[in-house]
Amino acid sequence: MSAFETLIVNGTLMTPDGPVLKDLALNHGKIAAILDPGHEEFAPTIIDAKDLHVLPGIIDSQVHFREPGLEHKEDLHTGSKAAVLGGVTTFLEMPNTNPPTVDAASIEYKVNRAKETSYTNFGFFMGATEHNLENLQSAVDVEGCCGIKIFLGSSTGSLLLYDKLKLTRIFESCSLPIALHSENELMLRERVNIKNEAKDVHAHYHWRDVDTALSSTQMILDLARETGKRVHVLHISTKEEMELLAKYTDVATVEVTPQHLTLSAPEDYDRLGTYAQMNPPIRTVDHRDGLWKGLSNGTVDVIGSDHAPHTKEEKDKGYPHSPSGMPGVQTILNIMLDHVNAGKLKLEKLVDLLSQRPAELYSLKNKGKLMLGYDADITIVDMNKTHEISDGEQASKSGWTPYRGRKIKGMAVMTIVGGNKVMDNGEIVGEPMGRPIYR
Ligand code: DOR
Repeated sequence: MSAFETLIVNGTLMTPDGPVLKDLALNHGKIAAILDPGHEEFAPTIIDAKDLHVLPGIIDSQVHFREPGLEHKEDLHTGSKAAVLGGVTTFLEMPNTNPPTVDAASIEYKVNRAKETSYTNFGFFMGATEHNLENLQSAVDVEGCCGIKIFLGSSTGSLLLYDKLKLTRIFESCSLPIALHSENELMLRERVNIKNEAKDVHAHYHWRDVDTALSSTQMILDLARETGKRVHVLHISTKEEMELLAKYTDVATVEVTPQHLTLSAPEDYDRLGTYAQMNPPIRTVDHRDGLWKGLSNGTVDVIGSDHAPHTKEEKDKGYPHSPSGMPGVQTILNIMLDHVNAGKLKLEKLVDLLSQRPAELYSLKNKGKLMLGYDADITIVDMNKTHEISDGEQASKSGWTPYRGRKIKGMAVMTIVGGNKVMDNGEIVGEPMGRPIYR
């Protein structure tokens, strides 16, 4: 009788203690052993990871998969397919669907759909409104709910809440993690003529300028200190916010996106037009540098893709009629591996940002580490594989990527979800068998 179902041999395991040349045994969806090489006879399925790195499964802590209501852009099946193709094993999904996810029933709907159709594991945020405090308070008991999302400034969809009294009540009385989209709604409204009179998409980062982001983030950090509630601030885009957040690590954790670390204004707006438009905006190189500084000095906790698919037809409407957001779940890991190869950060650090820290931050049970008893969610990467990213290979319904034509080095080559091989060398080889996260 075999001791294990699967043995991953010859690879470099990225464990919490650093890289080790050991074999990884999987059984019943869990990590069953970390062994010295030479135990191939113990498993019927051997995966040879020679010259490859074996990572704890990548967790994308910010995606928009559009189901229900906006399935022409994406659904849980296509979004999760894009995820596994890019090496992601778990996603945490945002509530700005239609209708928005603001109560237990709407989380339950998503969880049931995802159980049927998702290739990856999944968690869902409940969105805050002016009127759903009780739902937010009891969301901690809802299966598959990973946290509360608050849009302080309006973006895609109708969710919006910036009233300080209501925010205070939520901070004081909700135990789930709170993730924030931080832009100052009143300032955005005061400045909306910049958008309305815009001749082209470059106006986007003038309208949603540094102060609209910074003032909102300052307000939320003060409130976090006052109430003693930890907050997670999403997709930080300015160097000023990064410097500020470094002084508030007692109450705030920080997320950045690969696109804010990779693209910049004005060049990428010139190149991509409205396909570079997102909220908060892609900004000038000094801001991008500031984000990298925050990443290297430890201010940044996690990287999330903010996968926000819109169709080409919608994007082609032209600014300001084009929606904000870009797809990213399929490229989150590969773009960052390319940055590792370019010497911008170490692979160990990337594993921390994309797996261990998101699991810690959202208290995801048995995820984020290659450790005995942890879930057998595994991402295998080839640090030497080169590739040119194309629109055609994107599984997202949106069918495009801002990285089209970019040559990268370093790629996910296998994705294992709950012990089942789902992606092998760019091909889907498994079934949608994702499970909800537990906390
Ligand atoms: O650009 C964005 N698009 N930012 C968001 O916060 C929402 C997202 C979307 O859902 O389209």
